[in-house]
Amino acid sequence: MANFEELKQQFTAAFENAENLEQLNALRVEYLGKKGQISALMKQMKDVPKEEKPAFGQKVNELKAEATALFDKKKEELESKALEEKLASEKIDLTLPGRRPSYGNLNPLHLVEQELEDLFIGLGYQVIEGDEVVDDLYCFERANIPKDHPARAMQDSLYLDPEHLLRTHTTAIQMKVLEEQAPNPIKVVCPGKVYRRDDDDATHSHQFMQIEGLVIGEHVPLSDLKGTLEFFARKMFGQDREIRFRPSFFPFTEPSVEVDVSCHMCGGKGCPTCKGTGWIEILGAGEVHPHVLEMAGYDPKKVNGFAFGIGIERVAMLKYGIDDIRHFYTNDQRFNKNFDRFD
Ligand code: DAH
Repeated sequence: MANFEELKQQFTAAFENAENLEQLNALRVEYLGKKGQISALMKQMKDVPKEEKPAFGQKVNELKAEATALFDKKKEELESKALEEKLASEKIDLTLPGRRPSYGNLNPLHLVEQELEDLFIGLGYQVIEGDEVVDDLYCFERANIPKDHPARAMQDSLYLDPEHLLRTHTTAIQMKVLEEQAPNPIKVVCPGKVYRRDDDDATHSHQFMQIEGLVIGEHVPLSDLKGTLEFFARKMFGQDREIRFRPSFFPFTEPSVEVDVSCHMCGGKGCPTCKGTGWIEILGAGEVHPHVLEMAGYDPKKVNGFAFGIGIERVAMLKYGIDDIRHFYTNDQRFNKNFDRFD
């Protein structure tokens, strides 16, 4: 005959001592499972004398109910203990400092471009950008550089078809603006990328940036060009800078000048940066050629004006002492981050 009391003590102690849910589950199988000890008691029923069967059955059912209640109670207890442990181990320390997300910054060329735009906006200029793919007409013909002109050889470069190419200079934007604005006055700067056949070394690149300036009106004196460029040179390179004009040649200006700025490194005494001359060549400029005005639809007897073209890389390199033009194009954060102070 089954010893109910012993079995009860056994599972009561076992459930009570279960340390975790796995152990508890194993005990459930052992006592309450289909092949467990309480089910085994049920199978003994057939051997029990008939008159004792009801009492025996009731006893087994009681045992089962008791075991189930003990199991449920212990399960709840272990589950809440497990939750508490989990909460304790996952506790977030709100006093820890946050991790700063790393962020990029603008390429120094764009920063210098913006600085130049701001400078000219301050002088009343408007900023106009043009297309990078341009007609031969605006890149060369309208700039007084016909098909057989030797000046093409220096810039002839990336053609898409015989009439379209990647602009070789921002002067292409100048020519388009002239046509669009004629016969009205103009005061614009046009920044952007340009492309031409060139060496790729520390000071040359087949792709670089320029900013073109153009002023058209009645009686625009050349001294205005000088004053404007002096303002530019002092803003970019320091208040003590002087500029000088040297006669030069560009097909689209007459007269044409090459503009030098007194060296900002040595103040004009002569040093490696200015190759001992005290002056640094910085840009080309001139009076817009009467024929250029005429082709665009202006009457050169009524209006005149000046234009200039500045290399943005050149300004950036001189201003910040950058020794290799290729630094601008590699997107190396160790280089770019030096210019974070503009942010
Ligand atoms: N387009 C010339 C170049 O790329 C630069 C230039 C010179 C632009 C004189 C001008 C200018 O507007 O007047 O070399």
